[in-house]
Order: sequence, then structure tokens, then C-alpha cells
Amino acid sequence: MKSNMKTIRSIPQMQKLARAMTAQNMTIALVPTMGFLHDGHLSLIRRARKLADVVVTSVFVNPIQFGPKDDFKAYPRNEKKDIKAIASAGGDIVFVPRAELVYPVDFQTFVTVEKITATLEGEFRPTHFIGVTTVVAKLFNVVRPDLAVFGMKDYQQVMVIQQMISDLNYPIKLIVAPTVREKDGLAMSSRNSYFTPRQRPKAICLYAALKQARAMVLRDGVDKPAVLKRKMTQVILSICPTAQIDYIAFTDFDSLQPVKRITRNTICSLAVRVHGVRLIDNMKLS
Ligand code: PAJ
Repeated sequence: MKSNMKTIRSIPQMQKLARAMTAQNMTIALVPTMGFLHDGHLSLIRRARKLADVVVTSVFVNPIQFGPKDDFKAYPRNEKKDIKAIASAGGDIVFVPRAELVYPVDFQTFVTVEKITATLEGEFRPTHFIGVTTVVAKLFNVVRPDLAVFGMKDYQQVMVIQQMISDLNYPIKLIVAPTVREKDGLAMSSRNSYFTPRQRPKAICLYAALKQARAMVLRDGVDKPAVLKRKMTQVILSICPTAQIDYIAFTDFDSLQPVKRITRNTICSLAVRVHGVRLIDNMKLS
């Protein structure tokens, strides 16, 4: 297949091109990724394609959002395949900056969103969101998009980026795309590639627990987080007895504050280690 897609590795070149496109009144959509793309990522690119004149997809495994015990080195990578997939999803530009250009040796500026990074993922991965907001701020500055597309799969990340956009006055519209799942309900993730075929079926425990919680709320009118949490823990351990649950949280969809009673605006988020692979997922309980 012939494609006119451009691959750009230099930051000044990306900046120059972005300015030139803006000068021609073209709207730019940015889809930030860490690569090893699956249909979830591609759904963001297709969404961006409908909303802007130019779609820039960044592929960068951002070292500073991984903690010392995280999987930065092991994180899966396949640049060639990613570039082909982005072209077939309708991408115009792939921005693949080299790590030493993104973080030169004297790099010393970080962007931090406070409060809402203290809970959920932030509690278990204390330096994670500083890494995310710093790299996304840099991508915003380089690509200067009119809109940016993020996935609901990383719901807290969406909230944190929205806060940064508003606090730092980025003139960028945040678009949130729904979570794309495998046939059995497992949320697509680059990390799913870590599972052996025998381990993989256990990974549905997060989705199974979320579905159970939603059914208990909608069908039985349960409104106590503790009751749901107990049942979800049982569901998870019955599917994967060795699973380690980092958290199961019930928060307000708009504020990320924990709720005492479940309402139509409550979202349940959870993080579970299944055979050593840390998975996250979420579902609105309405
Ligand atoms: P990554 O995990 O590669 O995800 C890139 C984008 O794809 C994120 O917005 C994420 O929410 C979305 N995504 C992942 N799985 C999805 C699924 N199953 N359905 C729909 N969307 C999905 O998130 C990151 O990278 C990084 O933190 C990044 C924002 C790129 C900063 O480094």
C-alpha cells in the first residue's frame, strides 16, 4: 500500500512542520502513544481523522513515567509495525522522537498536577503522572495541536491531562474515546502481550468484576462501595487465585473524589496484577 505518511524524528522539524500547517489554517489532532499499537490506539487515530485536517501520532516509550520497579526495559516495541498500522488507520504524521532528544542530559523541568494525582494510580505509582504530564506538555508544545485524543481506558490520565490543559491554558480540546476490548471483554493493552496462552484467560478477571459490580448496582440497587468491593474481590480471586489487587475504587466521574454511596455518576476503577502483569480497567456504574 502506498502511503504519504511522514515519519519525523527531529523535534525542531516537527515544530517547523506544525507551524507551517497552522499557518495554512489546517487543524491538527495529536494522538500520543507509547507504541506497540493495538485496535484501541487505532480507534483514537480514526477518531482524530474525523475531527482534524492533520493527524499526528506520537510513538515514544516515555522513560520518566516508569517507576524503578516498572517494566520500562521490557515494554514491548515494534516501530515498523506501528508505522504501518498508523498509516492504515489514516494517520498523516508519525512523530518518533529519540529519548536523548526529549530528555537531554541537563533536562530539569517537570510539570506536576497535584491533588488528583495523589490517589488510585498515583498512590501505587508515585512518580508516574509527573512523567506523563511532563511528556504530554512537551508534545503539546512541539505539535501545537487543536485537539488531542486520549482513551477512557486510562481514565485518571484523562482527568489529569484535562486539569493540566485548563491550568496551563493550552488552547487544546481534549477528546475522550471509549475503551476497546477483546472479544472476552479484556481491555486492549500493549501489556497483554506479556501473557502466555495459559495465563491470558485469567486476565478477564477485571472486566468480570466490573460487570458484576454494575449488575449489582443496576439490577439489585446495591449502593454501598464496601459491598461491591467485597464481591469484586471474590470474583477476581475465583478467576485468578494468585491475583494481587492494588485497588478497587469508587469515585465521582467528574471530580475523581471517592464516594460513600454509588450514584449514576460513579465510576469504578481498579488495578490488578495478574501473573505479574499490572492491568487497569474502569466502568461507569450506570
Ligand atoms: P499508551 O498506553 O500507549 O496509550 C496511548 C493512548 O491509547 C492513551 O490515551 C490510552 O488511554 C489509549 N488506549 C490504550 N488502550 C486503549 C483501549 N483498549 N481502548 C481505547 N484507548 C486505549 O497512555 C499512554 O500511552 C502514555 O501515558 C502517554 C499518554 C502516551 C504519555 O506517555
